[in-house]
Amino acid sequence: MMPSRKMRKELLRTLARFHGRRVLVVGDLMLDQYVRGTVGRISPEAPVPVVRVTGETSIPGGAGNVVNNLASLGASVSVVGVIGEDEAGRRLAEQFRSKGVDMEGVCVDVDRQTTQKCRVVAERQQVVRFDRETTGPLSHATQTRLLAGLAEELPRTEAVIFSDYGKGVIGPRLLALAIGAANRRKIPLTVDPKPEHFRSYKGVTCVTPNTAEAWACMRREPKPGQDALVALGREILRMLRSRSALITRGAEGMSLFEADGKVTHIPTVAREVFDVSGAGDTVIAAFTLALAAGAPLDRAASLANHAAGIVVGKLGTAVTDCAELSEAVR
Ligand SMILES: Nc1ncnc2c1ncn2[C@@H]1O[C@H](COP(=O)(O)OP(=O)(O)OP(=O)(O)O)[C@@H](O)[C@H]1O
Ligand SMILES: [Mg+2]
Repeated sequence: MMPSRKMRKELLRTLARFHGRRVLVVGDLMLDQYVRGTVGRISPEAPVPVVRVTGETSIPGGAGNVVNNLASLGASVSVVGVIGEDEAGRRLAEQFRSKGVDMEGVCVDVDRQTTQKCRVVAERQQVVRFDRETTGPLSHATQTRLLAGLAEELPRTEAVIFSDYGKGVIGPRLLALAIGAANRRKIPLTVDPKPEHFRSYKGVTCVTPNTAEAWACMRREPKPGQDALVALGREILRMLRSRSALITRGAEGMSLFEADGKVTHIPTVAREVFDVSGAGDTVIAAFTLALAAGAPLDRAASLANHAAGIVVGKLGTAVTDCAELSEAVR
């Protein structure tokens, strides 16, 4: 779908206002690590390939990928989250610092491991993935520090994103504090939801589940077809009393539900699809930044859809920037 000339102009005007907008990300930070190598033989010790390591990279994942997306789009990003006192935590901090991300609100908890997913990839095939994480509830002391960090960041931010991967950072107290402040200050607060926490998101600006999560959030068996999805979206709005809900639908694009009853279906604009991982993080980053820049909900969703269309055409968990987005919108 080609946007009309008027719409294109509006989207470009919004993009021009991205730079320097202050966005706060609250959520479960992770480190995605890739160990690459070649396989020459099977191990004499066990029936497994022996990988000769040729290189290693790591990039922020989870809420960290939302941070990365925002930074790449020109936002001035602050983070509230938890890392462990370990190598993965140091790498995350280093990568955020190099992008100018404000880490004041990140707590180091010596009793927790930084969430880390390490993939071993040989000849483009994933051989194994091993995870390190601590997913239990946060200690009282860490919760208190997080709340203090959040309280400090809220007055100076122009938008808030909760990136909930269910690893322990996000709970009812953080949500209540942020939702109260956001509504008082009339700034957008969006949530990439964890179905188990869905009832704590009452009063947010928008939730951005994918289709499967949307059904799980309402504890319903998924039903096919657009009519069923529209009914589901309306139920979500009713339950959360939120201004909107944005259901991302993979290859089918996304559907935006607004409190006044308006439903907008936006087909994907992706031309080539290489890697869809992380596209949901791109959606919430671009959508929320556009709201912070003053765009109405439907325009913000359209920009987010363009951003997702770009990143799924890139290899790996990718990000986009304003130059690429302007090009796509034109
Ligand atoms: N296969 C695809 N073809 C075209 N566009 C896609 C495809 N998959 C995703 N997209 C685009 O990316 C957006 C977000 O993708 P999706 O609905 O898969 O989110 P998600 O499941 O939260 O992703 P993730 O959890 O990997 O970040 C979609 O709304 C769409 O615009
Ligand atoms: Mg997602």
